[in-house]
Amino acid sequence: MNYHTPVLLNECIESLHIRANYDYADCTLGGGGHSEKIAELLGEGQKLHCFDRDIDAINAAKPRLAKFGEKIICHLEPFSNLERELAPETLGGVLYDLGVSSHQIDAGRGFSFAGNEVLDMRMDASSPKNAQDYLKEVSEENLAKAFRENSDLENSTRLAKHILQSISNEEKITAANLSTAVEEVYSKRKEDWNSLKARVFQAIRMEVNSEIQEIKKSIEAAVRCLKNSGRLCIITYHSKEARAVKDVLSVFEKNCLCKSNLPVCVCGGSNRKIKKVNKKTPSADELKKNSRSRSAVLRVYERV
Ligand SMILES: C[S@@+](CC[C@H](N)C(=O)[O-])C[C@H]1O[C@@H](n2cnc3c(N)ncnc32)[C@H](O)[C@@H]1O
Repeated sequence: MNYHTPVLLNECIESLHIRANYDYADCTLGGGGHSEKIAELLGEGQKLHCFDRDIDAINAAKPRLAKFGEKIICHLEPFSNLERELAPETLGGVLYDLGVSSHQIDAGRGFSFAGNEVLDMRMDASSPKNAQDYLKEVSEENLAKAFRENSDLENSTRLAKHILQSISNEEKITAANLSTAVEEVYSKRKEDWNSLKARVFQAIRMEVNSEIQEIKKSIEAAVRCLKNSGRLCIITYHSKEARAVKDVLSVFEKNCLCKSNLPVCVCGGSNRKIKKVNKKTPSADELKKNSRSRSAVLRVYERV
C-alpha cells in the first residue's frame, strides 16, 4: 500500500532552489516522497538530513532512499532536535510537510475516527503518554482550551465535559468511544459529524504530540541553520499550524526588535534574518488526484 502521496511536490522542489555544494534537511520524512526528489538533485558530497519521530516512516523511507547511498542521513528524532544534529549556517534549504501521513491515519493508531484499539495518537511510539493517558489525566478546563485553541471548536466546555464523563468508566478508550461521544454532543448536526470529529481528533493529537511547541522550536532552529539565501519551505494543513509558523517567523522578518514604546531604536535595527518569498496552494489537478492536499498551503522564506 502507498505510504503517503507527497503534497505540492514540484512546488517544494522548485522553491527549495537546490544548489551544488549545499546540504539540505527534510524535517518530515514520512514515506520519503519529498526526500527522494530532493536527493535526485544532489551532487557528489551533498547530504540530505531526513528527520521523523515515527519509526514506521524511517523503515518505509530507508529502502526507497537506499539508492542514494551516503547522501541520505536518517534521524529518528523529533525535528525540534535539528540544532543537535546540524551546525548553524550549514544548510541550503529546509523542508517541513507538517501534520500526519496517510500511513499514520490508516494504520489503526487512533488518528482516524474508527477502531477499537487503545486510542494512541503518538507519532513516536516510545514517548511516554498516548491519547488515552492524556484523556484520563486532563482537566475539563484544559481539554476545553485545547478544543478552542487547536481547532476553533464551539461549545468547547460542553464538549470537554461530555467526553470526559462518557469515558470515565471505560478502562480502555478507543477512537470509536471518542467518535460516539462527539456524535452525542452534536446530535443535531449529523451532516457536520465528520468535520467535527476531525477537529476533535486533531486537537487531542496536537496535545499528545506537543505539535505547536515542536514547530516553534524547530523553525527557529532552522532559520539559524540556513546559509545566506537558503530556503525554508513549510507546508501547513490548518490555521493553528499556519499561525504558529507565521508567529515564529515574523520575529525573524523584523529589522528592529525594540519595544514599540521606545522613542528610538536601541537594538541596532539590523536583526532581519528572513524574508517572505511566496505562498503556494495545490493546483486543481492535484486537488482532484489527492483529496488530502485540500487544505495544504506552502509558505516559502529565504535567509537574508
Ligand atoms: C505529512 S507527513 C510527511 C510526508 C512526506 N513529506 C512524504 O512525502 O511522504 C508528516 C511526517 O512528519 C512527521 N512528524 C510530524 N511532527 C514531527 C516532529 N515534531 N518531529 C519529527 N517528525 C515529525 C510525522 O511522523 C509524519 O511522518
